[in-house]
Amino acid sequence: MKRRIALIGCGYLGEIIAEAMEKGLLPGYEMAAAMSRRRESAEALCRRAGGAAAEGLAELLGAKPDFVIETASVETVREYCVPILEAGISFIPLSIGAFADRALYERARSAAERSGAKLYIPHGAVGGFDVLRTAALMAEAEGRTLRAGISTRKGPASLRNTPVYRPELETEEQLAFSGSCKEAIALLPAKVNVAVAQSLATVGPERASARITAVPGFVGDEHTITAELPGIRVVSQVYSENAAIAGWSIVSLLRDLHSPVSFF
Ligand SMILES: NC(=O)c1ccc[n+]([C@@H]2O[C@H](COP(=O)([O-])OP(=O)(O)OC[C@H]3O[C@@H](n4cnc5c(N)ncnc54)[C@H](O)[C@@H]3O)[C@@H](O)[C@H]2O)c1
Repeated sequence: MKRRIALIGCGYLGEIIAEAMEKGLLPGYEMAAAMSRRRESAEALCRRAGGAAAEGLAELLGAKPDFVIETASVETVREYCVPILEAGISFIPLSIGAFADRALYERARSAAERSGAKLYIPHGAVGGFDVLRTAALMAEAEGRTLRAGISTRKGPASLRNTPVYRPELETEEQLAFSGSCKEAIALLPAKVNVAVAQSLATVGPERASARITAVPGFVGDEHTITAELPGIRVVSQVYSENAAIAGWSIVSLLRDLHSPVSFF
């Protein structure tokens, strides 16, 4: 029997899920329902991927999905993650920045624990969460300290209209921000999903470091995650010209969940 997916947010990344359905890349799944701020976007997506446009969470969950995928906004995760998990439905968010709020993350964890549903944190635009989790486990087992952080190179244009922007970033490669992931989130709430995700996989947003370097003329993002403990060094680097890899990370996760072979 096919597993049912529902989607919140039918924009750029939501359309990648629809593209995968259309191309037959998710044969183990059917689209149950989709919702978006504009109903027409949800209707258009359902015409491609199947399912029905829903108006609000109750209607979305009424379509009996096994998984709810979020490709909408941090606010959406804040509002909906606990009710979805409490309803026993697994949740796959991309706006992971919401979980910089540790209280929310703990509420989501407990809801999943109580209902038996799962909160999946996809690798999105970065990667290596499997080996980061193993390094964190080894640090715990051996009573050692794990040091972890993320360093990002990006064009200055993507930092315009943020508190870290200054005109000099346009002309010369410069460090635009250096601090903890928690501090990065406070300054750049909409731009740090990957920083929060890697910090949750390692040492938490308070202890994980974040650096952003503005590189004039740079197109896309290059993220380098490092985690170290004595005897182990993990470095995971992902360059992406645009955010499409984040949408495909959900498709890849769904395929892995349905496959007889799982790469961890
Ligand atoms: N984890 C990662 O690596 C990663 C990478 C890129 C983007 N993201 C995040 O993914 C999310 C989606 O990105 P996108 O590029 O597809 O954005 P987008 O703007 O193209 O699409 C978002 C869609 O969600 C809808 N939406 C917003 N708030 C909603 C709400 N409360 N209820 C229902 N629908 C709502 C919008 O109308 C829009 O159609 C963003 O939050 C972005 O920060 C995560």
